[in-house]
Amino acid sequence: MAMSPAVEALVKKKKQEAEASGATITTSAPAILLDMSKVPALKNKITYKDIVGEEHPDGVKREYPAIKCKWYHPEDIPEKDEGWVPDHKVLPEMIASIMYGHNGLVVGEPGTGKTTDQREICARIRMPYYRVNGMEGMEPADLFGQVHLSAGATVWVDGPIMRAVRHGGLLAIDEPFKMPPGTLMGMQWLAEKQDRAVMLYGHPDPEQVKVEAHKEMRMVLCDNARGTGDNMDVYAATNVQDASFINRMQYKIRKTYMEEDTEARAVNHKYPWIMPNLAKRMVKFAGLMRKAWAQGAIEMPFSFRELETWSEIIAENGGDVHVALDSAYGNLLESGDEKEVFMKAVQDVSFE
Ligand SMILES: Nc1ncnc2c1ncn2[C@@H]1O[C@H](COP(=O)(O)OP(=O)(O)O)[C@@H](O)[C@H]1O
Ligand SMILES: [Mg+2]
Repeated sequence: MAMSPAVEALVKKKKQEAEASGATITTSAPAILLDMSKVPALKNKITYKDIVGEEHPDGVKREYPAIKCKWYHPEDIPEKDEGWVPDHKVLPEMIASIMYGHNGLVVGEPGTGKTTDQREICARIRMPYYRVNGMEGMEPADLFGQVHLSAGATVWVDGPIMRAVRHGGLLAIDEPFKMPPGTLMGMQWLAEKQDRAVMLYGHPDPEQVKVEAHKEMRMVLCDNARGTGDNMDVYAATNVQDASFINRMQYKIRKTYMEEDTEARAVNHKYPWIMPNLAKRMVKFAGLMRKAWAQGAIEMPFSFRELETWSEIIAENGGDVHVALDSAYGNLLESGDEKEVFMKAVQDVSFE
């Protein structure tokens, strides 16, 4: 194969270097695997820092296509939450999924911030955000809409996903796998890469049955499990889903609990009466509970939600950390084993 002058020069240089070092000389061309100059350049870009408000601590530099869209419902853009602490582990990919218009699937334990992050990204990129919750027994009409009778006439009333479908934005479906698989499959066409649409079966006007999705609509599914039937013992109401739907979610993101430092920073930032030293211990305690939960020694998960409630109750009960922990969590533990694991963790971390 003919080598380009640049590659030829590189091969020659490598050969000279190898000769100089006395190493065995290989004559094959170095593998050139990527030519990033062929990737179409972004016309309008926005950086990670522009969106998140601070640089990535590991120096990750990412640029995304800025979305230029005049939203029909600007009132659906959420307000920024000043208490949000960025979890840099997953944000570069989460943001990419939304900015490039992909479908995303975020999987992770309860209370790891899956839902919060989607909303907050929308607040920061100024994109309408529509949250829908998956429930057992949900039917397609609960998503798409149905015919109602109004003053003797039949009128179509849109379901909760239709504002995103018609006018664009992020459709965030929380715990989609609680839905029966047939219902989720009703969104198959909406999950395609191109020419996405939904069919409003039962619409009285045949002209309006097919609705083509707005070009700036994207979706993200957030769930505890993958939808393939794993972890059914822990997440009881999860239905096994059709693989062809899951397959249409392009970005797969795994969200774990935040790293200890980030989580402690989040606690201290949101609840300033919790001093950094206590925040660290609370997070350490949370870590021990999570470990015990993963091992099956404790049946109640300990998420960031518990840390939040614990912090709030400390303020409300005059500063009793132990009583607050019981109210936020401990009082629901049942078996002697669970209580023992709990007490041991309290002693090991020590809130004195
Ligand atoms: N990055 C964050 N900064 C501050 N608070 C957060 C963050 N992520 C999650 N939270 C808080 O933790 C709780 C659980 O988050 P949520 O997004 O509901 O979790 P999930 O969807 O994974 O179950 C919420 O009360 C939320 O306000
Ligand atoms: Mg959620």
